[in-house]
Amino acid sequence: MLYFTLFSTILHRLKSPQNVGAIIRSHVAFGGGPVVFVGDEPWRFRKSSQAFSRRLERLAELIFVPDDDQLLDWCEQHGFSPVAIEIDQDAISLKDFRFPRQSALVVGNEGTGLPEPFLRRCAGIVTIPQYGSAECLNVGVSASIAMYELVRTMPRANAIEGAKFCVAGRS
Ligand SMILES: C[S@@+](CC[C@H](N)C(=O)[O-])C[C@H]1O[C@@H](n2cnc3c(N)ncnc32)[C@H](O)[C@@H]1O
Repeated sequence: MLYFTLFSTILHRLKSPQNVGAIIRSHVAFGGGPVVFVGDEPWRFRKSSQAFSRRLERLAELIFVPDDDQLLDWCEQHGFSPVAIEIDQDAISLKDFRFPRQSALVVGNEGTGLPEPFLRRCAGIVTIPQYGSAECLNVGVSASIAMYELVRTMPRANAIEGAKFCVAGRS
């Protein structure tokens, strides 16, 4: 099956329920398609994640794959180009990067990041420029910035603006 969506989000062996929840919330807010979890076990949405996701995972298709080979197979079969969001010497700065059509935005584990061999298999590696002395950004913040920039540079006709107080059923 091929998808017709702007992007998918790939969570590569994330551990923190708060980070997973926050990424799901941004993913749905920015209009993403499927969310893929790479890891030994399917991610279980407990209250600790849902406090951050606002249970928006109900609106996303969730896919679970055990390893990098199966992730890259999934991307190929479904028409996604894997783009690693990572700090790396070969990375392109986010401000200069042109996201491919149907990017799969891959973010890495909180402790170890994305593995080096995996980075080399991606269609692109993108670094979010930092200007202060922090070593790196929080992974949920990184994912959200990348999603925002992807959507900003591929404007959609039906983008929703100022929806903060638009609640279904209320005028
Ligand atoms: C907290 S970092 C992991 C850092 C890890 N300690 C290391 O040195 O590899 C977790 C994830 O956040 C993302 N990340 C953090 N800062 C980033 C930046 N400036 N640009 C792109 N991705 C970033 C990457 O996806 C990374 O794998």
